[in-house]
Amino acid sequence: MTAPVRPAQDMAALADAALILRSGGLVAMPTETVYGLAADAGNARAVARLYAAKGRPRFNPLIAHVADIEIAERCGVFCDLSRRLAAAFWPGPLTLVLPRRADAPVSDLATAGLDTVALRIPDHPAARALLAAFGGPLAAPSANPSGAVSPTTAQHVAEGLGDKIDLILDAGPCRVGVESTVVAIMDGKAVLLRPGGLPRAEIEAITGPLAAAGENAAPAAPGMLTSHYAPRAPLRLNAMEPAAGEVYLGFGPGAPEGALNLSSGADLAEAAANLFAYLRHLDAGAPRAIAVAPVPEAGLGEAINDRLRRAAAREDA
Ligand code: TXA
Ligand code: MG
Repeated sequence: MTAPVRPAQDMAALADAALILRSGGLVAMPTETVYGLAADAGNARAVARLYAAKGRPRFNPLIAHVADIEIAERCGVFCDLSRRLAAAFWPGPLTLVLPRRADAPVSDLATAGLDTVALRIPDHPAARALLAAFGGPLAAPSANPSGAVSPTTAQHVAEGLGDKIDLILDAGPCRVGVESTVVAIMDGKAVLLRPGGLPRAEIEAITGPLAAAGENAAPAAPGMLTSHYAPRAPLRLNAMEPAAGEVYLGFGPGAPEGALNLSSGADLAEAAANLFAYLRHLDAGAPRAIAVAPVPEAGLGEAINDRLRRAAAREDA
């Protein structure tokens, strides 16, 4: 049976979603970044079902989504720097990895047994309404089979996971389109674990230069496997035009006529919002390869290029 898709604005659908979550079920919820697959973070059986539905390795921990800073403080140990980041960017596309509180209301399975916890307050009315109705933290990875492209519409969720989950809340396409930026705060130092929807420069205005994951014994995000976010077709990056048999994904005003364009006006926010839906659309035609135009590394370009490089790195190919 495939999960019902209901409007996220519908109060009855939200109430049903909270009930499903309380009884250990799985609900796809819209966020400003991508759709997440939510489960009660404190319920190990629900979290186990979530890993199984995604086919996600259990060493890869989940983000605990929370309604407010009070619940976040019950899960993680905040310091001055993490409090300043939370105050500046929550709700929003920033995930903070902090030391886990011993009594955090989050199952060990959700944090993959680590002594840290990833926390985020999403900036989407439906996600916040669901979190408020549910009360506690919701573990929510992107609502796609592990390794596949993240969903930015309810339709994407239904295609990838529809037969494995209980309900899909539909609020149309996601505004940001790439996942949150993940920053670990360890001993007062900020480490960039994953570039994402909050550009580096905005964070560095508060933290100073971010350390890179893996640098100076800095932790890495277990989920940052090289090959990820991958369509079935191979990707060829920094391509000025398509070769025979390839389809083209353009960026900016110079792109070939008729090709799909991430943003003809070279707007990186527009490109991020279009990225995953356009990759899916081109992949559906089973082309020999998808050739992608160069995208500048500035601002949201860092996250766009990160996802493109991971989509292009196919260890199984
Ligand atoms: O925008 C987003 O972040 C979306 C929406 C649904 O909120 N969620 C999302 O979750 O992208 P997911 O599970 O696809 O990616 C979470 C990333 C993974 O790379 C994971 O390894 C990392 O965060 N992560 C989670 N907990 C961690 C921890 N305690 N330490 C280091 N990395 C962690
Ligand atoms: Mg994901």
